[in-house]
Amino acid sequence: RDEPIVLGIETSCDETGVGLVRGHTLLANTIASSMEEHARFGGVVPEVASRAHLEAMAPTVESALAKAGLRFSDIDAVAVTAGPGLAGALLVGVAAAKAYALGLGVPLYGVNHLAAHVAVDQLEHGPLPKPSIALLVSGGHSSLLLVPDVAQDVISLGSTVDDAAGEAFDKVARVLGLPFPGGPHIDRSATSGSGTAIAFPRGKYDDGTFDFSFSGLKTAVARWIEARTAAGETIPVADVAASFQEAVVDVLTRKALQACRRYDVKDLLIGGGVAANSRLRALAQERCDAAGVRLRVPRPGLCTDNGAMVAALGSELIAAGIQPSALDIPADSSLPI
Ligand code: KG4
Ligand code: ZN
Repeated sequence: RDEPIVLGIETSCDETGVGLVRGHTLLANTIASSMEEHARFGGVVPEVASRAHLEAMAPTVESALAKAGLRFSDIDAVAVTAGPGLAGALLVGVAAAKAYALGLGVPLYGVNHLAAHVAVDQLEHGPLPKPSIALLVSGGHSSLLLVPDVAQDVISLGSTVDDAAGEAFDKVARVLGLPFPGGPHIDRSATSGSGTAIAFPRGKYDDGTFDFSFSGLKTAVARWIEARTAAGETIPVADVAASFQEAVVDVLTRKALQACRRYDVKDLLIGGGVAANSRLRALAQERCDAAGVRLRVPRPGLCTDNGAMVAALGSELIAAGIQPSALDIPADSSLPI
């Protein structure tokens, strides 16, 4: 066989993700999530996540190998998310990856979680055009990146100054009485509402930066609901959901296309859990078509946190001839891109 088989381990949040990749070919992508344990707290509880990773790690690696029909001895390299993410959660994945690399006698690659979200698209859509713009939107991050080369040159253009986009979805869902995580519920509810019913504020809309702000919007929605509730009115949940969602995706797609124009880039990638949002996909497609930009969105299972994305980036680093990490690499909860 020509290309190395890479084991990827992802534990930056609540998902224990294990992926196996050969070049741009996905061999397995297995996930154990502790989301059910967090749901009753209305958010991810870091220590609960760390303990869940510790229990799920070895069984998830074994099930990924079984799914791919591979044995430990087939693994040529181990890649792991070294950051950013929850410190304790990252430590479990990094420690496990070091143990596997040492035990198997193969190189270790500590990778950046955001770059991995970008690299994963190559498993579905092939080589990423150089350069591309990437919009990464999830519960933990919202970033706009210029990507000349995912293996060695990823530049942050901007990120959220307060809440992540998914966090805003989750918080607004909570005030609407929808279950956690709220993004998919808002998406569903919005289909029977109107995005123009209520004019919610769009933070940093025309400030000339590529940063985002969603906390003002979240507060505006909460105040709007409080005022109606105090007046004894029923809340038009679908209209609130649709109007809130429209405000978020309007800003996200507007800034993403402004970045494409500014840097003269013709390929836009959207990743992260919020990339599953149907209105985000539709508006992004509409605006990309109008601007002559090609849109790439990986399928939902590759958008949310997973191990295949880490393996995909590891694979890319090996192909680019990047040196492996030392066995004493730290986990860095605020690892810069
Ligand atoms: O990438 P992800 O699985 O985990 C991280 O946060 O890193 O993203 C989860 C986030 C949650 O905030 C969830 O509400 C949001 O993605 N999400 C959505 C949709 N599906 C998931 N937000 C809006 N619309 C959706 N359809
Ligand atoms: Zn993520």
